[in-house]
Amino acid sequence: MPVIIETDKLNKWYKGAEDFHALIDVSVQIEEGEFVSIVGQSGSGKSTLLYVLSTLDTDYTGRISVAGSDLKKLSKNQLAAFRNASIGFVFQFHYLLPEFTVLENVCLPALKLAKFDEDQIEEMALQKLDILGLKSQAIKKASMLSGGQQQRVAIARALINEPRIIFGDEPTGNLDSANSAMVFDIFKELSANHNQTIVIVTHDPDIADRTDRKIVMKDGKVAL
Ligand SMILES: Nc1ncnc2c1ncn2[C@@H]1O[C@H](COP(=O)(O)OP(=O)(O)OP(=O)(O)O)[C@@H](O)[C@H]1O
Ligand SMILES: [Mg+2]
Repeated sequence: MPVIIETDKLNKWYKGAEDFHALIDVSVQIEEGEFVSIVGQSGSGKSTLLYVLSTLDTDYTGRISVAGSDLKKLSKNQLAAFRNASIGFVFQFHYLLPEFTVLENVCLPALKLAKFDEDQIEEMALQKLDILGLKSQAIKKASMLSGGQQQRVAIARALINEPRIIFGDEPTGNLDSANSAMVFDIFKELSANHNQTIVIVTHDPDIADRTDRKIVMKDGKVAL
């Protein structure tokens, strides 16, 4: 399989009263269709790595290439367009809009992309909600759902544009074991049968062991 994400000597400093070197010479390659987990102790740089790989954090040195594009060479607008079309996020800070319905929340990224009309988007959204066992919740306000249900809505939302790459920071973090297993199976299916690339940070060793490959972070470096 071709490489879809590649970094070369990636370094990241958090600037402050005292600068902190959060990523040190990180060189990784991830193949298209791979399901990869990023593991390691708290503070080892997992989220930091995920944010730079997923284009959300552009303050780094070194090279990151995603789907053939050198991210440093893209303008702000090009980066945003690339992100909308090609990347899905299941991050803890990407909250649902509580006053909007579940369906509206899932439709939003597709409305933003504007590739399909509203009726088509609604149908696609209902299909994603169905996969996540949430079709019956579609017209409820997002704030009415349980934490685990909201997490699954966030996953449906990440899938709506059928992105080539899905990034998740603890996507099963708030879920019980049955819901975690459901989410894992969905990711597995997307990578195995739809060639979508999945990169998740997880603290759950059972989940990590069942991904195709683990990237182990230690003190800002990829541990060998
Ligand atoms: N905005 C920031 N400013 C300064 N330091 C930061 C900032 N964000 C993270 N750090 C530091 O960078 C290091 C890596 O943080 P990161 O959030 O990537 O860890 P993590 O592996 O995701 O940990 P966890 O498992 O607890 O989520 C930590 O030492 C953290 O304190
Ligand atoms: Mg983290």
